Order: sequence, then C-alpha cells, then structure tokens
Amino acid sequence: MYTTDLSGKDKKKSEPTPLKQEDPKLLAAFEARVANDEFIEPKDWMPEAYRRTLVRQISQHAHSEIVGMLPEGNWITRAPSLRRKAILLAKVQDEGGHGLYLYAAAETLGTSRAEMIEALHSGKAKYSTIFNYPTLTWADIGAIGWLVDGAAIMNQVPLQRTSFGPYARAMVRVCKEESFHQRQGYEIMMALAGGSREQKRMAQDALARWWWPSLMMFGPPDDKSPNTEQSIRWRIKRETNDELRQKFVDVSVPQAEAIGLSIPDKKLKWNEARGHYDYGEIDWEEFYAVVRGEGSVAKERMQARVKAWEDGAWVRDAALVHAAKRTAAKIAAE
Ligand SMILES: [Fe+2]
Ligand SMILES: [Fe+2]
Repeated sequence: MYTTDLSGKDKKKSEPTPLKQEDPKLLAAFEARVANDEFIEPKDWMPEAYRRTLVRQISQHAHSEIVGMLPEGNWITRAPSLRRKAILLAKVQDEGGHGLYLYAAAETLGTSRAEMIEALHSGKAKYSTIFNYPTLTWADIGAIGWLVDGAAIMNQVPLQRTSFGPYARAMVRVCKEESFHQRQGYEIMMALAGGSREQKRMAQDALARWWWPSLMMFGPPDDKSPNTEQSIRWRIKRETNDELRQKFVDVSVPQAEAIGLSIPDKKLKWNEARGHYDYGEIDWEEFYAVVRGEGSVAKERMQARVKAWEDGAWVRDAALVHAAKRTAAKIAAE
C-alpha cells in the first residue's frame, strides 16, 4: 500500500501544519534545493514542519502496508489453487517488506520504530481506511490487487521523485512490486469474469464493494486537504489527491469494460471536453467514519497487529541479544 494522504492527518482537527519560525537563510537554501529537484537527505538541514509532515506521511504509509497484509493474509489458506496460494503468499510478503523499507526511511528522520508502532497500536496514528473493510469472497482478493494496489501505484509512482531521498528510493522497488500486485489482482478478476455465472457475479459484487473505497484512498478532495499546498511546494507530493484520483478513474474504466464488469457509478461518463471521465459524488461521510475507526473490522485489525507485535517480542529480544554478543565477540577479537 499505499497512498500519500491516506486517512488525513493523525491530529483531529483539519488545519495546515503551522510553520515554526525557521532561520530565513537556511529556509531559503532548503527551498532552492527542493525547487531544483535535489534530494534532501537525513543529515541535511530541513524545516521542522517538513520533518513532521514526512514522519506522519511515511509512517502512515508503513502502517498501511502492514495492516494491509491482514485482509489478504486471511485468504492464504483458502486460495483456490496452489498457484494462487503461492502468488498471494509472495504478495503479502512483499507488503511486509514495503512496511520495513518505510519504517526504516521514517527512522532516518529521528523517530524510532517503537514510537511509530506504539502510535499505531494506541490509535494515534492512522493507516489507510481501505483496510477496515472485510474481504468476504475470493473475488475480493482480485479486486484488492486490481483496485487497491492499482490506486497505490498511482500514488506511489510520483513518490519516486519525492524530495526526501530515503522515501523516494524506497518507492522505486515498492512500485515494481505493486505493479505485479496489480496485475495478479486483475488476472484473478479476468478469470472470474470469464468463468461461470456465479464466478462473474462474485467478481461484480467485489468490484461494487471495493470501487468507492478505492477512490477514497486518494484522500479528501483538494479543497479539504489542508497540507496539500505546502506538500506540493516542498515536493513531498507531486500531484494533488484529485488529480491522482482522476487518473485512477481514467485507467480503471476501460479495464473494467475489457472484462465485462460494470463500475457501480451511474454518473460515470466520458467527458470529451475535459478528456477525462466524470464520476459521481464520493460519500465522504463514510470516509470520515472509517477514518474514525468505525470500519466494520477496524477493531479486529488492530487486535491482530497488537497480537503479532506481542507474539514477536521474543524474536526482537533474541535478535538484540545476538547482536550484542556479536559486537562483544568482535571487540574481544580486536
Ligand atoms: Fe505495498
Ligand atoms: Fe501491494
């Protein structure tokens, strides 16, 4: 996963992050570098608001990757063939890897992994709202790969040129893997849509349930996204939520048509003058309710993450003891 403005801010109220009084000379030099498309590296000077925005965005992104493993992990034992099982296993494992690169990138900004995980578990930090929806049938695995990973790609391709070096570099590999995820999902949908009547019905039902939440993945509309302007200026984001959402609609409609599925939006229509599809109103009430943790499986997701963290404590402890022993042995040998 997954997006640049997943579930809005971790804070409750929507207001732009205030700019602390920064040294005007340092700030001007920083802004000139960013405007010149140079990467900012962890040891470089950066405005406090830039650092905070990045920690929030990268850690939300990391949380989304690992929470995103849950709805699909749920289907590994029930995949309909060995081939599908092997593919799904690889995909879910990739998402764990994405979480790892992203936590590591966020750590270079001076926040520890333990702090970020604690913020997730205590409900302070957000993750993508999309993972608070349940996966009811096998077709949901197809719809997630096709639409959710598809939306992720749309968001993440521009992030390969985001201004913070470690984040941009992590995105290069993530994007390659997301593209495999998107294709495997679409291939599942293609097989189901071309299968029995019941299979096609399952595919259509999954599309109907995942379409709108996928559009919500791009975050609130631009006029309700208070940090967008600053983020674009600092090249943390390179395209706005609405621009990315439009791109996603434009590529997904022909893909649905190609496999004979219909997108659940009566207002969806090609607009010749704009050169884009027009689409219906997104139910933002639903979006904000899910952000508030009212998604039908939100509690279950967090319980699963906390359990995984607690169950893995012995591995972390053992790794630390092992590392200390190795260091001690190395010092003794010198
Ligand atoms: Fe991912
Ligand atoms: Fe993915």
